[in-house]
Amino acid sequence: MNLSGKTAIITGGSRGIGRAIALKLAEKGANIVVNYTSSPDKATEVVEQIKEMGREALAIKADVSKEEDVSSLVKEVSKQFSTIDILINNAGITKDTLLIRMKDDDWDRVLDVNLKGTYLCTKLVAKKMMKQRSGKIVNITSVVGIIGNAGQANYAASKAGVIGLTKSSAKELAARGVNVNAVAPGFIHSDMTDKLSDEVVENYAKNIPLGKMGDPEDVANAVAFLCSEEASYLTGQVLNVDGGMVM
Ligand SMILES: NC(=O)c1ccc[n+]([C@@H]2O[C@H](COP(=O)([O-])OP(=O)(O)OC[C@H]3O[C@@H](n4cnc5c(N)ncnc54)[C@H](OP(=O)(O)O)[C@@H]3O)[C@@H](O)[C@H]2O)c1
Repeated sequence: MNLSGKTAIITGGSRGIGRAIALKLAEKGANIVVNYTSSPDKATEVVEQIKEMGREALAIKADVSKEEDVSSLVKEVSKQFSTIDILINNAGITKDTLLIRMKDDDWDRVLDVNLKGTYLCTKLVAKKMMKQRSGKIVNITSVVGIIGNAGQANYAASKAGVIGLTKSSAKELAARGVNVNAVAPGFIHSDMTDKLSDEVVENYAKNIPLGKMGDPEDVANAVAFLCSEEASYLTGQVLNVDGGMVM
């Protein structure tokens, strides 16, 4: 897998899975744009690590749910790099509670960041990729978007939406040489899951055939494959990275 000379934007690249993807794509040769919204220090740390590998990297603050932020993100990247070859729609949040207790604001915010954010970034970057007649877009969904989860109606709906968006945009962009796929992580170590108690983690692990939680690098490896030439005949697919949880 060789991504030398490619430019990749990773939304939410400052922490967790996004950080691991940023480092993995840089390891494979890509120059990296680390998008973040509230952790400038963590984003800078990732940028420094990537520069030490000899790649170009910059951190750009943008809330993916806001069109004006996404538009300035894409303009800034276009000023710094001649092409945008890879977009990883990874930024995501949870606001978990049972459906009957859910506040409308928590429904809206999760849908805005996870689904509208993926839509806005895809729309603005796809325009550039279509002109280039090449590009790879990988959307980070979740197995919860496939099987649902009590307490995560907003999150599951947003991630199911991301799957529909992936398949529709794959069909629209295929003729222009742009591949759009999704990766559905299962239960992965990150800030999002580290707040869970050991008991909850043990219970989840019982339902994972490979018997343990995944690491961000497990997701990053699958993403790197989907960004590579080796995956050029794949589009509109959802690749579960979940230790066999959903099969
Ligand atoms: N962890 C899991 O088990 C798991 C399972 C399935 C799917 N996923 C998905 O994988 C993705 C990454 O999750 P994670 O576990 O790595 O989460 P995380 O550790 O909480 O990191 C979330 C990242 O998203 C960024 N972000 C949040 N809101 C944003 C916004 N409005 N605009 C731009 N960036 C924003 C954060 O930036 P700041 O640092 O600036 O706040 C951070 O970089 C998410 O889409 C999540 O739904 C995770």
